[in-house]
Amino acid sequence: MKLGNTFVGTLVLAISAASASYADKLTLYCSAQEDWCQLMARSFEDATGIDVNMTRKSSGETFAQIRAEATNPKGDVWWGGTGDPHLQAAEEGLTMEYNSPMRGELHDWAISQAESAGNRTIGIYSGALGYGYNTQLLADNNLPEPSCWKDLLKPDYKGHVQMANPNSSGTAYTTLASMVQIFGEDEGFDFMKGLHANINQYTKSGSAPIKAAGRGESTIGIVFMHDAVAQAAAGFPIKVVAPCEGTGYEIGSMSIIDGARNEEEAKKFYDWALSAEAQNLALQVNAFQVPSNTGAQTSDKAPDMSTIKLIDYDFKKYGSSDERKRLLQKWDEEVSTLPQ
Ligand code: G6P
Repeated sequence: MKLGNTFVGTLVLAISAASASYADKLTLYCSAQEDWCQLMARSFEDATGIDVNMTRKSSGETFAQIRAEATNPKGDVWWGGTGDPHLQAAEEGLTMEYNSPMRGELHDWAISQAESAGNRTIGIYSGALGYGYNTQLLADNNLPEPSCWKDLLKPDYKGHVQMANPNSSGTAYTTLASMVQIFGEDEGFDFMKGLHANINQYTKSGSAPIKAAGRGESTIGIVFMHDAVAQAAAGFPIKVVAPCEGTGYEIGSMSIIDGARNEEEAKKFYDWALSAEAQNLALQVNAFQVPSNTGAQTSDKAPDMSTIKLIDYDFKKYGSSDERKRLLQKWDEEVSTLPQ
């Protein structure tokens, strides 16, 4: 059958228009702070014309969602959130191997994260764990100024400490894994049990406890130090603490979901998100993490990592599927069930 030129031309146009509109979109799962997620999504749309459908969920929650959707993946890129669940996703084959041409611009720690996961993830920022407290509430309640992790076990702080649930939140899982690494497993769990007695609420999201402290609804929040700095920078009476025993840290990560429907767009986002220009967007939303691109700017308000006593956090071990599952189950059974 012979088709007229005009008809064929129209058909080709129609097909390419259909595939363009099908292809020019991206489903982004985001586990960093909401306003940063929004800004990244909108800025990528502006830079490329690709429509972004973004959802913000905490790191552990996003991991669980990606696993639940594994046979029919709905997301394309998972940007942000602590590295441990990204490493677990890599080990479970839920994310895809990708070697970005941007790797040469990154700090070694971002590349080590990639290499320890068969290049199925990569570091986009880092930040140290700590806590912050509302100085006014502390004074109003005649509470002593805490400066160490163990200070938080004092009975004076009963009902004054908030942290997230380590199942949903990467921040809280980093807390649990850090205590096990700082104090050893038995003493680390004893610490979590003692802390439980002082906790007023386990939130879903990692940064919620310091936002509550900023609003004066709770006194102390265990969070990444940069999240506490963000509250202080917003004008709330928050003091940031780098605990005296030393502390853990995160390598916030990014991964492409295995079986992504929009793989080309996912790679475009991935390369763009590793650029200094995209990482500098953090400064517009008070995201005070250390960026992974060596040419990106770090705010002078950001916690100075060189002055914080950081442990040699074993990402490979604590991001492994068996270890993460084991620690979370132990926390569920031995800590969360205790009376308060
Ligand atoms: C905040 C921090 C990020 C961190 C994220 C983890 O947004 O600023 O550095 O990666 O929390 O969130 P989650 O809710 O999983 O603890």
